[in-house]
Amino acid sequence: MSSYKEKAIGVFDSGMGGLTCVKELQKLLPGEDIIYFGDTARVPYGTRSRERILEYARQDVSFIESHSVKLVIAACGTVSSAVGSDPSFGGDVPFLGVVSPAGRAAANATRNGLIGVIGTAATIRSGAYEHIIHEISPEVSVISDCCPLFVPMVEEGMTDPSDIVVRSVVERYLSKIKSAGVDTLILGCTHYPHLEKAISDFMGDNVTLISSGAAAAAEAKELLREKGLLRTDGHTGRLDCYTSDSADLFRENVKVFMGGDFCGTVERVSVEQLCSS
Ligand code: DGL
Repeated sequence: MSSYKEKAIGVFDSGMGGLTCVKELQKLLPGEDIIYFGDTARVPYGTRSRERILEYARQDVSFIESHSVKLVIAACGTVSSAVGSDPSFGGDVPFLGVVSPAGRAAANATRNGLIGVIGTAATIRSGAYEHIIHEISPEVSVISDCCPLFVPMVEEGMTDPSDIVVRSVVERYLSKIKSAGVDTLILGCTHYPHLEKAISDFMGDNVTLISSGAAAAAEAKELLREKGLLRTDGHTGRLDCYTSDSADLFRENVKVFMGGDFCGTVERVSVEQLCSS
């Protein structure tokens, strides 16, 4: 029988964006198995109501937990900000979102006390990033904005920083935040690191970009270490992915999202199955 430590880390997102967190987890914790669920049949979540987002998130969590995991990561800014700081969301399994880790990383990184936050409409409406940043550093000013076209652009693979359309959309969304003089910018949606180069070209070298997925991966490592749940048996971690839309499409896209060769399995799970889990 496998020990608790040997269980996988469960990660989910509305689509492919959470793979930015998976990529970082694989770097930091190469010995850990990862189970990823991308709800590609119901993406995007960020344009929906809080009630609908929480309903989907509960189904995603129970699907992930049916695979017996030792930690659940909501690698989705939209879900994390809807859940807020409810530690019981994962039931008996520790649950980690991306908002608190990214908020903490930004509060530590800022030198001039001006932080920018970008995310989906639901994330920005929730004020969750402001809330965590002000809890840590009440004196810091936060300016936030939603970037509704970023998720479909990333899902379409439209991320080339030399593409005039990409550059124009980035400029349109980020001009206000740039002129406010922020020195730190939270990419509050896990899709956005795919536009990192275009964003950083526009914002300039002096602005530190915080990837919410990467910040969550770093905190996940800490959390598992504190709880004595890191694997130490020399195992090579595997990645098993589940998607609510076509497995072939996921397999095609995953290579783009993770870069290089994808060594993992992909299986489809129906939305009906999710709704009954
Ligand atoms: N990756 C999700 C997030 O971090 C995004 C998008 C969506 O479903 O709208 O918010």
